[in-house]
Amino acid sequence: MIYLDNAATTWPKPPQVLRAAAGVMAQPFGNPGRGGHKAALRAGRVADACREAVADLLGGAPERVIFTLNCTDALNLAIRGLLHRGDHVLVTHDAHNAVMRPLAGLEDRGEITLSVLRADEKGLLSPESISEAVGPATSLCILTHASNVTGTVQPVAELIAAAHGYGIPVLLDAAQSAGTLDLKTTGADLLAMPGHKGLLGPMGTGVLYVGEQVSPRPLREGGTGSASESVHQPDILPDRYESGTLQLPAIAGLLQGVRFVRTHGAEIHEYETYLFDRLRSRLSAMPEVTVYGAGDTPHVGVLSFNLRGRECAEVADLLDQRGFCLRGGLHCAPCMHRWLGTQGTVRASVGPFSTEAEIDSLGDAIGQILQEK
Ligand SMILES: Cc1ncc(COP(=O)(O)O)c(C=O)c1O
Repeated sequence: MIYLDNAATTWPKPPQVLRAAAGVMAQPFGNPGRGGHKAALRAGRVADACREAVADLLGGAPERVIFTLNCTDALNLAIRGLLHRGDHVLVTHDAHNAVMRPLAGLEDRGEITLSVLRADEKGLLSPESISEAVGPATSLCILTHASNVTGTVQPVAELIAAAHGYGIPVLLDAAQSAGTLDLKTTGADLLAMPGHKGLLGPMGTGVLYVGEQVSPRPLREGGTGSASESVHQPDILPDRYESGTLQLPAIAGLLQGVRFVRTHGAEIHEYETYLFDRLRSRLSAMPEVTVYGAGDTPHVGVLSFNLRGRECAEVADLLDQRGFCLRGGLHCAPCMHRWLGTQGTVRASVGPFSTEAEIDSLGDAIGQILQEK
């Protein structure tokens, strides 16, 4: 099997991720923050170490790293926790449904209004696109760092600086770029990341980094193991947002994934970009293949294509029959497909353990499918 669906979740994970996750269940680890016995304290140290590793990767404060279930959960906390009736929100053509659905729900109930920023022909946004869309009620700007359809990376530092010029905080969806960015260079006020994609952790992990400038309302309240004398949700971080038992086996794995990325991050990004370029040039040489996204903009290792006259789902199935795991469809990004003018695409997405040989055999398989038509 050749796994090229790393944009959905990365596989394989480094072996230390598997060992750490299994170790938490095999050995006596208690419930972190619940109880003063050795097993609970040991569990608490794992959660603290992971929080510190993520904070170190991002250049932030550990208590502002909030563990969530995935990137969708992190985005929901930020969006539904921050917005109020009457707010206006800036959003982008490349937003995932993890952003669009919470926003559309609020819009349908008449609570907020939305404006979609104007992108240029390459799909890039500019500071002017923000100036054009800002209004008196604009209270949040939500940017996607890298598209999960085309891999195109937005110039987020300039865009965030422009939004800050109007006093508007920015929530950055870094689902496809986690591991390649930090708080200082982007300037994001809130950063949502999955733990199970670029950070190489298990599924069931995600992070919302909550900057000092913002204070979302918690969406989930309950026991935190702290301030238990009070029936009210504590104000201290991260407890304010982390009610209930943490997914400790997954967090233990995430700690190892983050350490791996901290050590190899720059090489991983360079390698994945190289594999993307190799696949792009192979597919672009086939006249019956349309490759989406501009080839000359910054990107991550996510590439979308279609074969002339073929449904994307059919192509993904034919590739599956040949042993390739690629995703066909809308990739939960309908606005991006409206912008591209497509009904869906086949998406190949590489990870740190993908190989040149795998990319080349995908190119061969697509060539064979075209010949069999
Ligand atoms: C851009 C983007 N945002 C959000 C998400 C949601 O991430 P998760 O699957 O961790 O909820 C994804 C998932 O693919 C994504 O690509």
